Amino acid sequence: MDRPWASSIKCIFLLLKQKLLKELGNRWLPYLTPKDADFHQLWQENYSKLILREASRIPELLHKEVQQAFLTLRKHDCLFQDLVRIKGKNLLTPVSRLLIGNPGYTYKYLNSRLFTVPWPVEGSNIKYTEDEIFAACRAFFKLNDYLHKDTVQALDKLRLIKSEQNEDSTVFGMVPELSKSDLDMGDDMELKKRTTYNLTLLNYMDPQKMSYLKEEPYFGMGKMAVSWHHDENLVERSTVAVYSYSCEAGPEVIDDGEQSLEGRNPAVWHVGLKIAWDIETPGLAVPLHQGDCYLMLDDLNATHQHCVLAGLQPRFSSTHRVAECSVGTLDYIFKRCQLALQNVQDDMEPRTIHLRSLESSVIRQGEEIHNETNAVLCEIRKEGWLVEQKNEIITDLLAWLTTRQELRMEWCMRCQSRIAQNLPEDQRPICWPYWEDDDPEMPLPFDLSNIILELQGQLLKAKP
Ligand SMILES: *[C@@H]1O[C@H](CO)[C@@H](O)[C@H](O)[C@H]1NC(C)=O
Ligand SMILES: *[C@@H]1O[C@H](CO)[C@@H](O)[C@H](O)[C@H]1NC(C)=O
Ligand SMILES: *[C@@H]1O[C@H](CO)[C@@H](O)[C@H](O)[C@H]1NC(C)=O
Ligand SMILES: *[C@@H]1O[C@H](CO)[C@@H](O)[C@H](O)[C@H]1NC(C)=O
Repeated sequence: MDRPWASSIKCIFLLLKQKLLKELGNRWLPYLTPKDADFHQLWQENYSKLILREASRIPELLHKEVQQAFLTLRKHDCLFQDLVRIKGKNLLTPVSRLLIGNPGYTYKYLNSRLFTVPWPVEGSNIKYTEDEIFAACRAFFKLNDYLHKDTVQALDKLRLIKSEQNEDSTVFGMVPELSKSDLDMGDDMELKKRTTYNLTLLNYMDPQKMSYLKEEPYFGMGKMAVSWHHDENLVERSTVAVYSYSCEAGPEVIDDGEQSLEGRNPAVWHVGLKIAWDIETPGLAVPLHQGDCYLMLDDLNATHQHCVLAGLQPRFSSTHRVAECSVGTLDYIFKRCQLALQNVQDDMEPRTIHLRSLESSVIRQGEEIHNETNAVLCEIRKEGWLVEQKNEIITDLLAWLTTRQELRMEWCMRCQSRIAQNLPEDQRPICWPYWEDDDPEMPLPFDLSNIILELQGQLLKAKP
């Protein structure tokens, strides 16, 4: 539910952003690339939780399998642009995506929830329509395992470096600059939790096929495939590990030497980093060559923002995450349904459903879980209620029905938006669940506005 202060905070952020851009005027902020002498020092000092793993240190066989897997999924048209919602606007992401991961898991970003195509975890007996697709899912499962182990190593090393830095500064009689909170690693359980990726979001984009890509606004870093952002919906302080695969290009494109002396090479894909709300520290643009990986460790997501800068060639990436989906798995949804059904007394006769309890906490729970029953409505339409008791139920119910109505209308609008209608048929979002008002299968109409009016009327009538 929207808290009243949420929109004020949003507004303050927008003002801050405007102020930032205004202060900048026509001047770009500085950023460094490997061509700059201070590049590595800046990285060490202000971006040490970004780790690059160059392609050469990753097993050749793994590269082969993963790159083949990307190409297979593209061949079978498995990646789609997502229809997302940003600041009240419906937009298609320039990048096409596919979520692969533990069976029954979901990942939500920018108001869209994606469902995993399952990878073959141990003990699952998932049937794949094509052997090739099975092999592709298996390749990303292998990559996931590799990146998990690699991340644990990277975190161990970071811990070592930070504690040495602490000791050094103590030896020289200085106040240790890095307090314990600077690298709050937690215990081994925590470490495991923050590195056990349970899904990967695949990305694909061919810049040559895009009619328009946004220009990076603060540093003049060039065309962006993904704008500046923090990641959402992850376990706190968990790592994101990215495998980057830009397709082969001729040597004339890859060669950095021919490029101008300033700025990043626009032919090569980069990950861009900046510190949030900071215009003092230069930004960082790290080139990504075929098969390079990078890790965003610990709280890097909270303190920094990142973007993806487009090169010239098509590029895939596999971004492994520890999704916070405590309320976003199929398993969870089944359990909640069972709990809701415990309050339903099923008489053998069809269409007579009774509730065991009408206590406010039980009804609230039922509505929270399965907000599709009209049983409560039927009950409160009966005679003989105490006014306060009835009002309490109606008030609760109204809040739920109103939210539900708003969500339904928002989703309908998104499905009917021109941008959605212009998508190829097999990629168009469907307005579902949806039913006609006279559908005998459904206890309540799809459009709840009349019921909401009825309940509001009852509340008013009850007021002296
Ligand atoms: C960047 O690193 C320098 C040197 O360690 C440090 O003094 C400065 O505070 C850092 N900047 C930020 C914004 O953390
Ligand atoms: C994903 O893995 C993490 C770490 O094991 C866990 O905390 C989180 O709950 C998992 N997500 C789901 C949906 O189980
Ligand atoms: C990433 O950072 C943003 C901004 O600090 C925060 O709102 C978000 O919860 C963070 N996500 C995770 C998974 O930590
Ligand atoms: C139904 O209740 C769930 C659980 O609280 C909530 O997340 C969801 O938004 C509600 N759905 C509608 C359509 O109101």
